[in-house]
Amino acid sequence: MPLFLWLAFVFFYSGSVSGQITQAVFSDVQYDASATTQCLAEPGSTFYGGGIIVNPEFSNGTAGWALFGKGAMEERISSTKNRFMVARNRKRPLDSFSQKVQLEKSKFYAFSAWIQVNEGSETVSVVFGIGAGEFVSGGSIVAEQGCWSLLKGGVAANSSSTVDVLFESKNTSKEIWVDNVALQPFSKKQWRFHQDESIEKVRKSRVRFQITYANERGIAVSGAKFLVKQTKPGFPFGCGMNFHILESTDYQNWFASRFRFTTFTNAMKWYSTEEKQGQENYTIADAMAKFSQDNDISIRGHNVFWDDPKYQPDWVKTLSPEDLRIAAEKRINSVVSRYAGQLIAWDVVNENLHFSFFEDNLGENASSIYYSKAYQLDPTPRMFLNEYNTVEYCGDEKVSPGNYKKRLEEIFSYPGNEDILAGIGVQGHFGPGQPNLAYMRSSLEILATTGVPIWLTEVSVEPGANQAQYLEEILREAYSHPAVKGIIMFAGPAYAGFNTTALADINFNNTPAGDSVDSLIKEWKTQDFEARTDDRGFFSTSLLHGEYEITITDPATNCTSTSRFEVTRDSSGRTFHFQIG
Ligand SMILES: *[C@@H]1O[C@H](CO)[C@@H](O)[C@H](O)[C@H]1NC(C)=O
Ligand SMILES: *[C@@H]1O[C@H](CO)[C@@H](O)[C@H](O)[C@H]1NC(C)=O
Ligand SMILES: *[C@@H]1O[C@H](CO)[C@@H](O)[C@H](O)[C@H]1NC(C)=O
Ligand SMILES: *[C@@H]1O[C@H](CO)[C@@H](O)[C@H](O)[C@H]1NC(C)=O
Ligand SMILES: *[C@@H]1O[C@H](CO)[C@@H](O)[C@H](O)[C@H]1NC(C)=O
Ligand SMILES: *[C@@H]1O[C@H](CO)[C@@H](O)[C@H](O)[C@H]1NC(C)=O
Ligand SMILES: *[C@@H]1O[C@H](CO)[C@@H](O)[C@H](O)[C@H]1NC(C)=O
Repeated sequence: MPLFLWLAFVFFYSGSVSGQITQAVFSDVQYDASATTQCLAEPGSTFYGGGIIVNPEFSNGTAGWALFGKGAMEERISSTKNRFMVARNRKRPLDSFSQKVQLEKSKFYAFSAWIQVNEGSETVSVVFGIGAGEFVSGGSIVAEQGCWSLLKGGVAANSSSTVDVLFESKNTSKEIWVDNVALQPFSKKQWRFHQDESIEKVRKSRVRFQITYANERGIAVSGAKFLVKQTKPGFPFGCGMNFHILESTDYQNWFASRFRFTTFTNAMKWYSTEEKQGQENYTIADAMAKFSQDNDISIRGHNVFWDDPKYQPDWVKTLSPEDLRIAAEKRINSVVSRYAGQLIAWDVVNENLHFSFFEDNLGENASSIYYSKAYQLDPTPRMFLNEYNTVEYCGDEKVSPGNYKKRLEEIFSYPGNEDILAGIGVQGHFGPGQPNLAYMRSSLEILATTGVPIWLTEVSVEPGANQAQYLEEILREAYSHPAVKGIIMFAGPAYAGFNTTALADINFNNTPAGDSVDSLIKEWKTQDFEARTDDRGFFSTSLLHGEYEITITDPATNCTSTSRFEVTRDSSGRTFHFQIG
């Protein structure tokens, strides 16, 4: 499978040597973003020395831990003399063992533990008992027999309180084995610090300019004044749009003055382009594509099919499997050919982890076959899976990062699909409460081990007291992660009905969420700046990735000349040569 680099370890923040988990040390905090997907014979190391967990490696009997629910807890020692804890004789999913920890309001807690089951394989979750019989999931892993898997996740503390940390597995016949547990608190300030550190590393490159005279054998121009303007951002940060854009110049101006990337929220969907069987109508989608192209806005195609039975065109819901096969064949041929060469991505079979309309009717490989077909019709766009709840909510096992990876592998290792450019789409529809950034980061880390680019495809935050702040936290978390290659929000002006995450009110005045977005757009773009070369004709700086224009003034004549250049990840340490005269 050439497409997949199934890396054992991924190091995001440290320039470490391969083969061992290392910790990157920042001034006042430790942060380890390494993730492993390997199942190991011996449990891996304890992150953060266990953080606030007492007796995290079970080296001191059961100290700090207590039986939770029915069943039994038992300390075991492996043949290599490693001590770990086992929950057995379990009667209910939550029967395990627990430790009480004190959470502090508005901190994020990164969780990790090494997990094994005694037979076969089984999903095991970490759960936080927040009192009054309420339990909040903090992440899950499919644990296996005979080797240790790393469970990573976390929790965001809404209030200062004592909570129980415990483990859950639906199959009570299985023992849960646990070792090297860690729960590490981070203040919002520390979290933000990590994001900024990472942004500096992954979104910027340190470059040097050298300015010389063209006609004098490369003599340096000392003290040459120049103006640098970023003409296009390197990171795609875009916004969904709908048909209202065709009827309002205010909406058009609002959009085109901010965004260079889009997804049509509904206009390309099957139920929009073929509401009645056999009567295709692309009037709206075509006009939106034209508007986008006229304004240099790149389009993600959304979607060829949607695996949720609810969202089929009404006439499709009642077709026989044979008629469905024919209708679906016609659909994919029609829509993919129509926009061939015009799109940067396709969500080919939307939500095919949650749902299985096409698999149920056409066979278990239906999605794989449609990815293949889409690629044959147009090999240029990146072909995405697209799911909700993988990064935004940790209680949805079907779409856990581990299961997402499995589905991705299934589809792109299907015979003939190996060469398709694959993409991981995570929608990012967040609720109104504090987003669990600790869980979001651990999910992104797990998905990133595939080596496949990740896009947040439909970011929204439900209305609530801190909507603008939470939206900003989510966008920063995504932007700071090295594997995230683009973000599209499903948001917009209230005029167009975007009233879940309205960025502008009915009169196109910014909402607080709109202010957050605008300030991020500004921050993620290099502001125009003027500078001068030194005595040797050099100038060094760190620049955000993207396309640039430089206008240089010859100090001798005051004549100016303009050149273009592009800064990418590979530009780091590079010298750009410009000549004048
Ligand atoms: C082991 O746990 C006991 C409490 O059960 C505690 O008093 C003791 O200090 C612990 N020893 C170590 C080395 O942590
Ligand atoms: C639960 O685990 C037991 C022991 O490994 C296994 O025999 C059984 O099939 C599992 N049940 C389910 C529903 O997976
Ligand atoms: C196609 O859709 C457009 C926009 O909704 C509509 O104006 C037009 O009448 C439709 N064409 C047909 C043939 O139904
Ligand atoms: C689905 O694809 C797999 C892998 O190629 C194959 O083994 C299996 O037989 C296929 N299933 C059907 C129903 O064609
Ligand atoms: C925090 O609040 C959100 C909703 O506001 C809730 O979904 C979540 O379970 C809470 N988390 C904890 C740890 O209490
Ligand atoms: C949401 O948007 C629609 C326009 O599509 C509008 O009719 C509706 O009143 C809006 N709802 C709220 C709560 O603003
Ligand atoms: C270039 O422009 C500066 C300021 O605009 C002026 O002071 C200087 O005399 C000019 N030099 C030449 C050679 O025209």
